[in-house]
Amino acid sequence: MKNLKRQWVFINIPGINFGRSSYGQNVTLVDVSSDVLKKSESNIQNSLGRVAKKLHKDDPAAGKKLVDDVLSRIQYTTEPQKGVQNADLVVEAIIENIDIKHKLFKSLDEAAPEKTLFASNTSSLSIAEIASVTKRLDKFGGLHFFNPVPMMKLLEVIRIPETSDETYNSMMAWGKSIGKVCITCKDTPGFVVNRLLVPYIAEAVRMLERGDASAQDIDTAMKLGAGYPMGPLELADYTGLDTGVFILEGWHKKFPDNALFNPVELQNKLVKEGKLEERVGEGFYKYT
Ligand code: CAA
Repeated sequence: MKNLKRQWVFINIPGINFGRSSYGQNVTLVDVSSDVLKKSESNIQNSLGRVAKKLHKDDPAAGKKLVDDVLSRIQYTTEPQKGVQNADLVVEAIIENIDIKHKLFKSLDEAAPEKTLFASNTSSLSIAEIASVTKRLDKFGGLHFFNPVPMMKLLEVIRIPETSDETYNSMMAWGKSIGKVCITCKDTPGFVVNRLLVPYIAEAVRMLERGDASAQDIDTAMKLGAGYPMGPLELADYTGLDTGVFILEGWHKKFPDNALFNPVELQNKLVKEGKLEERVGEGFYKYT
């Protein structure tokens, strides 16, 4: 089994934080723009600050050391081909567009050493389809994280038929080494979590659309009646309404006979109006 502890590369991870380098890993963060990288660095710093405050409540010096140590293990670059030169593992988390993912993986396949494992953090696309442009299908898999990454314990590990046992075992071991609980799912739409979560949220929006209940009551019901930490509409505001629309559209096109994947008019309307999520001030709720 490969030891993936030394060096790994995360390619474009908007809004997701880098607690993982607090497990002693060297991380190179790659994005297309240095402005985005600067913003990512500051997000990581803030998020780590929260973690450090919690872990070292009575010892600010230890908290500062934790933050400094982690930040010192993260490098930043806008050049993917350079970023992967020494990588044991590459985790891609760019836009959910198959053509753009293909272009990136083709160039990474040429630049990365033979040993490097490739993974995609896609939420809804097929891992096999993404991997098809590379010559390392045996070293390809899916590694799907959840927001907020430092808090959410789950990692979905997806293997395609060509993924070797060595690659799969290394990915599972790596996931455990960064404190995640790993589950395995076949390369099916949405894997486990999104396959259940996306239709559930869509159904909540349809309920709101019909006027069966208010947004607040739907959310309160699922929090207090089903024990979810967030209601479905709050969660949609948190993960982004456009993400939900994009996923449903893609699946509807591929599986037109599955009514669970039918587009939801209200969700499409809010996205068109720019009411995308909590971070832009409005989604299903208004945020001040
Ligand atoms: N970085 C670091 N620490 C964080 C954090 C972050 N981004 N977010 C939360 N925390 C930690 C902090 O330690 C925080 O304590 P402080 O406020 O003192 O710093 C602690 O969590 C508690 O956070 P909050 O008090 O803000 O709120 P909470 O207890 O309700 O927890 C939550 C927040 C973890 C987000 C919780 O509401 C939750 O689990 N929500 C459901 C999230 C979910 O379902 N995620 C899956 C989305 S689907 C997905 O991601 C897949 C996809 O492909 C789109």
